[in-house]
Formats: sequence, structure tokens, C-alpha cells
Amino acid sequence: TKIAVFASGTGSNYDAIIEAEKNGVMDAEVALLVCDTPNAKVLDKANEYGTPTFAFDPKQYRNKEMFEAKLVEILQLEKVDLIVLAGYMRLIGETLLRPFEGKIINIHPSLLPSFPGLDAVGQAFDAGVKVSGVTIHYVDEGMDTGKIIAQAPVQIEDDMTREDLQKAVHQVEHTLYPATIQKLITRGE
Ligand code: GRF
Repeated sequence: TKIAVFASGTGSNYDAIIEAEKNGVMDAEVALLVCDTPNAKVLDKANEYGTPTFAFDPKQYRNKEMFEAKLVEILQLEKVDLIVLAGYMRLIGETLLRPFEGKIINIHPSLLPSFPGLDAVGQAFDAGVKVSGVTIHYVDEGMDTGKIIAQAPVQIEDDMTREDLQKAVHQVEHTLYPATIQKLITRGE
């Protein structure tokens, strides 16, 4: 199975996925890292690990259809089977969605359908909920709305800060994402 990871920022989930590939926890090859932020940290990591990258600046394209058409071309050339969004801060449009229907997954730092959208960890913290967590779901045209594949809880203890919660959520993400990808591969999805 060939995977493309899409990321915009730090890339700690990309890291976790690469580690899982190296350790044999995940039976897949990260064939490409796609990044829409030319100077993102994740690009340095990809260079370190030797993952081929495609970094682009959306502003250099006339519109979303144009850069998504370019992405489809590259993904098909690389024979990518599964697109893994890991902190890719952009909605997927129908140009990319249609040829990869059911083959794009996302990780979101809350128990969906609670707290979709930006800063889900902050939203959960401010709401004062005692349990939040992580969701992995198929991507559709909506914002964090596709069919749920896996979820894991994170307890929010009374003495936790926003940063503590962020850390705890990330920790859960780093094991849940590779494990879920592996499950999809085993099921042949
Ligand atoms: C993660 O918390 C993920 O759930 C969200 O964006 C964050 C990306 O973090 N979609 P990182 O770049 O993988 O460290």
C-alpha cells in the first residue's frame, strides 16, 4: 500500500507514521509528503527521512481546481492508494475527492461530532468537558463530517492546562493513526 501524507505544519503525526513504517507496525510505504506551506517544519522532517515531497504554494495557482488537478496527476503517477491528512489545514475539493473517493482519511483532535473545525482542543478545553479525544474519519466535502473509522478518548483532569490537553491528545493521535491505517490495510480498504 502506498500512502501520501498531507500536512501543513509541524508534522508530528507524519513522524509517527514514518516511525510505524520503519518499525513494521504499519505495512505501508509513505511514498509522498504533500505540503501546502512552503516553509513548514514537516518538510525538513521529510527531507531527513528521505520521503519525496511535493510542496506547493496555493497562491501560485489560479484556483483550488488547478492545484488539486496537479495533485491528482502526481498522486496517480506515484500510484498512491491512500491519502492520509495529518494537519492539512484545507478542505478537500471535488477535483481531488472524486478520483480518491473513500481513499482519503483525516485525523481530528476531538470526539466528533463534537468540536469540528479549528482549534478543537481549545474548544473542548473552553467547554469544560471531562472527556475529549481523537477521531479518524473518511473525508467528504464537509468540514470534519465524513464517516467515522476510529475514536479514542482522552480524560481531562481538573488540574490540566490547555497545553497538557494538547500534549495528551497528540500522544493518543500518534498511536491511533498508524494503528488505524494498518487496520484499513488489513481489511483491504
Ligand atoms: C493534529 O492535532 C491533528 O489532529 C490536526 O492537526 C494536528 C496536526 O499536528 N488535524 P501535527 O502537525 O501532526 O503535529
